[in-house]
Amino acid sequence: MGDETQKSRERSRRLPKKLLHGGDYNPDQWLDRPDILEKDLAYMKEAKVNVVTLGVFSWSVYEPEEGTYNFQWLDDIMDRLYDNGIYVILATPSGARPAWMDEKYPEILRVNEYGVPNTHGVRHNHCMSSPAYREKVRVMDEMLAQRYGKHPALILWHISNELGGQCFCPLCAARFREFLKKRYGTIDQLNHQWWTTFWSHRFNSFDQIDPPSKRGETSIHGLNLDWKRFTTWNMTDFMTWEIQALRKWAPDIPVTTNFMRLYKGLDYHAMAPELDIISWDSYPAWGNPKETLTDTCFRTAFEHGVMRSMKPDRPFLLMESVPSIVNWHEANRLKRPGVHELTSLQAVACGSDSVLYFQWRKGRGSYEQYHGAVIDHLGTNTTRVFKDVAHLGQTLEELSYIQGSIGKNPAAIIFDWENRWAIEDMAGLSNRKNYDETIQSFHKVLLEHGIDGDMIPGDGDFENYKVLIAPMLYLLKPNTAKKLKAFVKNGGILLATYLTGYVNENTLCWLGGFPGDGLRELFGLYSEEIDSLYPEESNGLEFCGPLKGDENKTYEIRDFCELIHVEGACVMGKYTRDFYQNMPALTKNTYGKGQAWYLAARADEPAMAVILGKISQEAGLLWETLPKGLEIHRRYTEDGRCFTFNMNTTNAPLHYRGLSLDPLETKIIESKPE
Ligand code: GLA
Ligand code: ZN
Repeated sequence: MGDETQKSRERSRRLPKKLLHGGDYNPDQWLDRPDILEKDLAYMKEAKVNVVTLGVFSWSVYEPEEGTYNFQWLDDIMDRLYDNGIYVILATPSGARPAWMDEKYPEILRVNEYGVPNTHGVRHNHCMSSPAYREKVRVMDEMLAQRYGKHPALILWHISNELGGQCFCPLCAARFREFLKKRYGTIDQLNHQWWTTFWSHRFNSFDQIDPPSKRGETSIHGLNLDWKRFTTWNMTDFMTWEIQALRKWAPDIPVTTNFMRLYKGLDYHAMAPELDIISWDSYPAWGNPKETLTDTCFRTAFEHGVMRSMKPDRPFLLMESVPSIVNWHEANRLKRPGVHELTSLQAVACGSDSVLYFQWRKGRGSYEQYHGAVIDHLGTNTTRVFKDVAHLGQTLEELSYIQGSIGKNPAAIIFDWENRWAIEDMAGLSNRKNYDETIQSFHKVLLEHGIDGDMIPGDGDFENYKVLIAPMLYLLKPNTAKKLKAFVKNGGILLATYLTGYVNENTLCWLGGFPGDGLRELFGLYSEEIDSLYPEESNGLEFCGPLKGDENKTYEIRDFCELIHVEGACVMGKYTRDFYQNMPALTKNTYGKGQAWYLAARADEPAMAVILGKISQEAGLLWETLPKGLEIHRRYTEDGRCFTFNMNTTNAPLHYRGLSLDPLETKIIESKPE
């Protein structure tokens, strides 16, 4: 483990030895109501709140005019919280700016892709390159760190808020050119990798390159991808700028920033190494009528899994969730009784050491006045929501022994942001590429059979797993093919699918047969064509060889059918219709001590279950069909204790191996690991 990784791990371990319960608290909106602040403290204690996040959007209160500072209120509140046993996560306020700043330093305002600068307002919209903003942020962050870095209540820095978006200002464009120069060295190399002779798009110098935009270039996939990489790099650079300012005065306090689900604008895998703790904001539409609660739970488990897998050696934090409703869903449906507890414990089951909310108390006005909170406009502790929260607080307190334990999952799925961007941007196939949905389907099928999966990038640590699934791994990063081969050679079992290895990291197609970069040898096959189906069309998959069931069942295939030729691989399944009837649809190749499977078509979930079942058994994993609606996750302590979370995500009682679960109930069973 490198020095920096070790330090980061140590910082992460300084969090309190309990599950955190609390959330965003905005007392600065209530400074003229000391009676309310007084009540807040009493209610927090009653609800077993042990941490609050302060100062997420407090800049205009911290610095009402340039150079005039006002921290007394925060001093008082931090002291009082601490005296009442409540910790503080302190945010840097860079997520939104006071009006005076935008007025005096207009360069801070973000510029849109049509070249139009924003006017002042809303949030999350600064230019990441702006020297003026960076300097303002540095001064503010250092002030906070100097003043509160040693405060006993402070447990964690929360960098900005939900970093996101892009800026097309001249400064960002100039930095983009620098980024490209570093990446490609020469303009010739860039022209080659971007295939710019196409449509006469050759550049003579880096100065001719603009960010891709609707008013200019959108047809060069390499450019589009590099712009996304650059935006991630520039955002990370801004974020580390903030982290450095804080570390100068408070080097031991861990840092996090709150991620937004599977946000497409930033490669979270590239940002994660700079953070000590991964945290995220989760707002599923619980109880929406378009899917079952079980399905919403599966999707959320997937999202938790993405977060957990970014630092599998430590827990993550659920930084925001809502105890009742948000104000921005299609319809803001109340959480039905029992759902708050189930879904909060699900976060813990998946590896979170916290259940935190946005927010503690509803504001009186502005955009989020109807967003759910622990304390309503009614202002009492008598509400259904408050009671739910207080009950959960009690439960979390009793579960403090879970803190610090981690998931050790035997299976991983490659979920890669750059691959996702490339697939989304590719012009071809059909408009039902559904990369995210496909990945999530694999994760769901595993969960339905008692196996949780981690989600890792294309250049992740494969060797920690026994089974590796690589759906639609279209783009191969420079070391991906090598790592896949090493994984299988050493005994791992790999399952890849249609669309594997079409392009290099700059979206240039591999020549000489897909999957490229030497993977043809690993899978013992090559792909010649791919057929995209209309939504009303399908094909069939019939297993053969050892997978052939008794009943000669045909499984459904939709969307994509790749036409592959085996060069050594065993055929395990065939197409049942069309001119490619009887061509291989599933193959297995023995390679070194392991196996490389290839699923050439988008098969339905029952077929995926057959394949994953076989693969898991070969890897020595327990594979069992769980009762519908049962979700199982495990967490392990360093000294070998295992906590199995058995969750009933349905409204009916459920029985499993002598365990009876009431509707929406979670039971945690402790055991020694198998
Ligand atoms: C995000 C933000 C919060 C709040 C919530 C509302 O997660 O970080 O400040 O606006 O959304 O759902
Ligand atoms: Zn900019």
